[in-house]
Amino acid sequence: MKPWLASTRTSYDTVAAAYAGQLRDRLDDEPYLRAVLGLFAELAGSGPVADIGCGPGWVTAHLHGLGVDAFGIDLSPEMIAYARRAQPGVRFEVGSMTDLTLRAASVSGVLAFWSMIHVPDCAVPGVLAGFRRVLRPRGVVPIGFHVGTETTLKTSGYGGHPMHVHIHRRTPAVVSALLRDAGFTIEAEILLNPDDRVPGGVVIARAPAAD
Ligand SMILES: C[S@@+](CC[C@H](N)C(=O)[O-])C[C@H]1O[C@@H](n2cnc3c(N)ncnc32)[C@H](O)[C@@H]1O
Repeated sequence: MKPWLASTRTSYDTVAAAYAGQLRDRLDDEPYLRAVLGLFAELAGSGPVADIGCGPGWVTAHLHGLGVDAFGIDLSPEMIAYARRAQPGVRFEVGSMTDLTLRAASVSGVLAFWSMIHVPDCAVPGVLAGFRRVLRPRGVVPIGFHVGTETTLKTSGYGGHPMHVHIHRRTPAVVSALLRDAGFTIEAEILLNPDDRVPGGVVIARAPAAD
């Protein structure tokens, strides 16, 4: 495993309980994100859809509640252990978006909410090629991310726990360009909280009708 991937995994293993405790009700305060998830549920149909970098699994569970056959994948075994306890009716597996073991053309959607932020530019094309492989024709990909141009190193978080994880901020235009290079068509670029110090971005892309 690449050192950056190993340190991301260790970091989220360390903070899993604290992260889950602090951000438990996150979606309650995020009407725009809930709207995006509702849109994703409509576009992807009944699924199955993969929530990749699912963390504690609330987004996966929210999709499940919308009638989507959603399952979660995360790099961090501690996050997955938490998600399984918190959401007993939902499937969760340990795995990395850099090396997806899902069958080809097996899902109608791949969601990556604030998880690809930890993948360096050099590895993003391989990740998006993996998304293409596992998606059915016209499959939907919403990617959520921190908007900006800098890469920062987070050395602690969620109550002062040690972390060593890079956060790669990107603009919607850059994320869209990466998706287009991977063969996707862009259907929406959404800018959330543009007055915040670090706005949020969601790009929704669609796989081609057939390869
Ligand atoms: C900031 S959290 C976001 C969690 C969740 N998606 C949410 O929106 O609350 C980032 C998550 O991505 C996971 N992650 C980071 N790199 C990953 C990778 N290569 N493959 C799968 N998950 C990854 C981390 O373990 C962590 O749980």
